[in-house]
Amino acid sequence: MKQVERIGVSLDKKLLSMFDKLISKQGYENRSEAIRDLIRRQLSGERLSNPKTKAVAAVFLVYDHHSTKLMQKLADLQHSHLLQTISSMHIHLDEHDCLEVIVLRGCVGEINKMAENILSIKGVKLGRSNLVATEQE
Ligand code: NI
Repeated sequence: MKQVERIGVSLDKKLLSMFDKLISKQGYENRSEAIRDLIRRQLSGERLSNPKTKAVAAVFLVYDHHSTKLMQKLADLQHSHLLQTISSMHIHLDEHDCLEVIVLRGCVGEINKMAENILSIKGVKLGRSNLVATEQE
């Protein structure tokens, strides 16, 4: 069974009021849950700063589907990194643009390198990658 420890935190009134407004806007029902999430996010961010941490990432990119070279490079990159590429999804946004979401798995260092390779392909209009650490300390 999980052990829970209660802690008291001293905060400046103004800071607390700003925090309460923020978490209410975000939909939190109480401070404890919001503070737990902040701590988890901070710990996860810390783990992601280690290139050896195991993680998964969703790489989002928007490109014009008329760039056949780009599509070829994108497919080549995924075929040459089979262990890291878990899945991908393609959405036709309009007559020109496509959104591709590529899910990668591996060490943070490898994932970041692969994501940089994907996002730096000529013709990518918008791109970003979101990582989540998968191993707990
Ligand atoms: Ni498309």
